[in-house]
Amino acid sequence: MRTTLITLQQQARNNEKFTVLTCYDATFAKISEDAGIDVLLVGDSLGDVIKGDSTTLTVTLDEIIYHTQCVSSRTDKALIMSDMPFGSYQQSPQQAFANASKIIAAGAHMVKLEGGQIMAETISFLTQRGIPVCAHIGLMPQSIHQLGGYKLQGNSQQSAAILLEDAKLLEKSGAGVLLMEVVPAKLAEEITQSLSIPTIGIGAGKNCSAQVLVLHDMLGLCQGKKPRFVKNFMEGANSIQEAVTNYVQAVKSGHFPDHEHEY
Ligand code: KIV
Repeated sequence: MRTTLITLQQQARNNEKFTVLTCYDATFAKISEDAGIDVLLVGDSLGDVIKGDSTTLTVTLDEIIYHTQCVSSRTDKALIMSDMPFGSYQQSPQQAFANASKIIAAGAHMVKLEGGQIMAETISFLTQRGIPVCAHIGLMPQSIHQLGGYKLQGNSQQSAAILLEDAKLLEKSGAGVLLMEVVPAKLAEEITQSLSIPTIGIGAGKNCSAQVLVLHDMLGLCQGKKPRFVKNFMEGANSIQEAVTNYVQAVKSGHFPDHEHEY
């Protein structure tokens, strides 16, 4: 049976962790869902790991559509969440709907978009028209030039308060899931406890409802400096299938992330 937004929300209510892994093609999609991954994220991290770019800003709508089709082609269990690429949704709710509907038609079951309160109206517009949305806050790679680098967010009292308020507003606006990237573990825990929707963490500590990693990072294929939140699950595994299974078990049992992976 296919995982849905309702399944994820039910799992979170029952305090059962769920797992998210990025995915860009049919082969890894099948391996990942057979290993028990609940959500396959067609992330705009494909700009880095597939295209070799240094940011996510070059990823186009057509590329997300193509990779969403690839991931959806052989899967029948995992929920497919696809990123809305930079420039495809920020202009207006109408622009976001026109582009999100193409991503959904390509096989996604949910779209993810970056932004705090500025995205509230767009999230209402999409969700009221039948498109589930995961809101992404904290370190937002599409705002890299505004943020001045890939660094910890919400680490001052003021910025933490803004993130908490953003999270509550985005839930109220209809977001079905909230993703937090590279924020202090204590703040992510406070936000998770303040919401009734599930939270997905990456560099946000163990007390989120779910964890996500970039596929290439968890397979130890990271180029350059390994971020603190990454764990190489290929270590000690005899196959990719086993590495993904180990990731699923580590998240579900609460063994990943550990203190060494959080801020
Ligand atoms: O694009 C992506 O892979 C992401 C994750 C890092 C959360 O958004």
